[in-house]
Amino acid sequence: MSFAYGDAEASSALARTIDWPLSYARRAGRIRASEIRELLRIVDRPGIISFAGGIPDPELFPVDAFRAAVDGILGNPKQARVALQYSVTEGYEPLRVWIADYMRSRGTPCSSDNILITAGAQQALDLIAKLFAGAGDTILVTAPTYLGALQVFDAYEANYGAIDLSGRADCPYAFETAGERLAAAYIMADCANPTGRCLTKDERFALLTLSERCSLPIIEDAAYEALRFEGDALPSCQSLDILRCGSVERSRVLYCGSFSKTMAPGLRLGWICAASEVIRKLTLAKQGVDLHTGLIGQMAMLDVVERLFDRQRERVRDAYRCKRGAMLAALQEFMPAGVSWTEPEGGMFVWLSLPEAADSVALLPRALDEAKVAFVPGPAFYAAEPKRNTLRLNYSKPSMDEISSGIKRLGRLIREIHTKDGRGQIGVNVQLGHIAGMTSSRG
Ligand SMILES: Cc1ncc(COP(=O)(O)O)c(C=O)c1O
Repeated sequence: MSFAYGDAEASSALARTIDWPLSYARRAGRIRASEIRELLRIVDRPGIISFAGGIPDPELFPVDAFRAAVDGILGNPKQARVALQYSVTEGYEPLRVWIADYMRSRGTPCSSDNILITAGAQQALDLIAKLFAGAGDTILVTAPTYLGALQVFDAYEANYGAIDLSGRADCPYAFETAGERLAAAYIMADCANPTGRCLTKDERFALLTLSERCSLPIIEDAAYEALRFEGDALPSCQSLDILRCGSVERSRVLYCGSFSKTMAPGLRLGWICAASEVIRKLTLAKQGVDLHTGLIGQMAMLDVVERLFDRQRERVRDAYRCKRGAMLAALQEFMPAGVSWTEPEGGMFVWLSLPEAADSVALLPRALDEAKVAFVPGPAFYAAEPKRNTLRLNYSKPSMDEISSGIKRLGRLIREIHTKDGRGQIGVNVQLGHIAGMTSSRG
C-alpha cells in the first residue's frame, strides 16, 4: 500500500478523531436520541412482555393476499417491467383513484389530484413540516401528542404551542405579539396516540374555528381513524371543514392517511389528501426526498385493498376490541388504588396515570428488571412540561395471555413501590379530567 504523504503523516491522519457534531447543520442539534428510546431498545429481550411497541399484531397481516398480489404482478411480464421500473412521484394512479374513492366515502369529495402517496403517514408529516414549518415557527400540538410527530417537527426546528379546543382561542394576537409565525396545528382527531382519545364534534368545530381565525393549516393525522371499534364514528376534521368551505380545494386541512394499521406497516404506504395546489408542491418536496414510493408495493396494495379492505378492517377492529377489553379488565383487577387510565374507543393504546408523585421514567428500568414488563413512559409524548406520572400501554401486539399476566406483574410492582413509599393511598390522579367520560380508575 502506498500513501501520498510520508508514513508519520499518514498514520497521524488515520489516527485522528473527528468531532462530527461540529460539522453537522445547526438543525441537527434537535435530532437526538432520548433517554427513553435508549431504554426501549432493550425491551425485546426474551422473557419481557412488551406493552411498549406502537405496532400492529402481525398475526393479522393479510399475508396470503399480498403473496398472491405480488405473484400476480411479477408473473405477468408486462406488469413486472412496470412494477420494477422508476415511476411518478405522485404515486400509482389506480391506487390514488382508490384512495380518492375512499376519502369520498369518508365525506371528502376529491379526485386523485388531491392525493399524494407517501411512505407511510410518517413521511406525510415530514413533507408537510418541510413545506409549512420554518425554523422557529410555532406548531400547535396537544399534550400529550404522537412522539414521532414531535421528532419530525423538532428536525425542522419548530417551537410548540398548546391547542386550545375551547372555541374561544384568540391565537393571532397572542402569537403576533410574541413575534412568532404560527405554522400549523397538528391533531389526531380519532383514537389518538398515545391516549386513544377521539375529539368530540364540538372540539372538531373549535379546531376549525381556530383554523379560520388564524388562517391556520390543520395537519389531521388519521393513522388510526379506521380502527375505531366502539362509539359513533365522527366525520373527519377535513370533511367538516369542507361542509363549511364547500370544497377540498378551499379546505385548510391536510389529511394524512395510512395503510399501516389496517393492512401492514412494512409496505410503508400512506397518503396526503389536500387541495391540489398543495399536493403539487408536496409532490415536488417528495421528489427531492425519494423520487417516489416503491411501485411494486403500491400495485400489490391496490390489489389487496380492492379485494378485502372492508373485511380486513373489520378483522383488525374485532381483534383490537377484544384485546382492549382484556387490558381494561386486567387493569381493573390488578392496578392498585390511585391509578387511572383511559378507555379508548379504538386504536392501539391505553394511557395510564399513576399517583401524582410517581415517575414513569424511573419506573421503567424496575419494570424491565423486576416485573419483566415494558411500556413507554409518558414524558416522551410531551412537547413541554411532561407529566411524569403517565405512561402508554399498547394492547395490539401482545397476546391475550400476555396482556393479563403482564398487567398483573406491572400492577404488583406499582402496588409494592407505593406501599413501600407509603403512598398507597395517594388520590386518583385528576390530570385526565379533561377526557370526560373516558377514564377509569382504581380509586
Ligand atoms: C399517530 C401516528 N401517526 C403516524 C404514524 C406513522 O404511521 P405510518 O406507518 O403510516 O408511517 C404512527 C405510527 O405509529 C402514529 O402512531
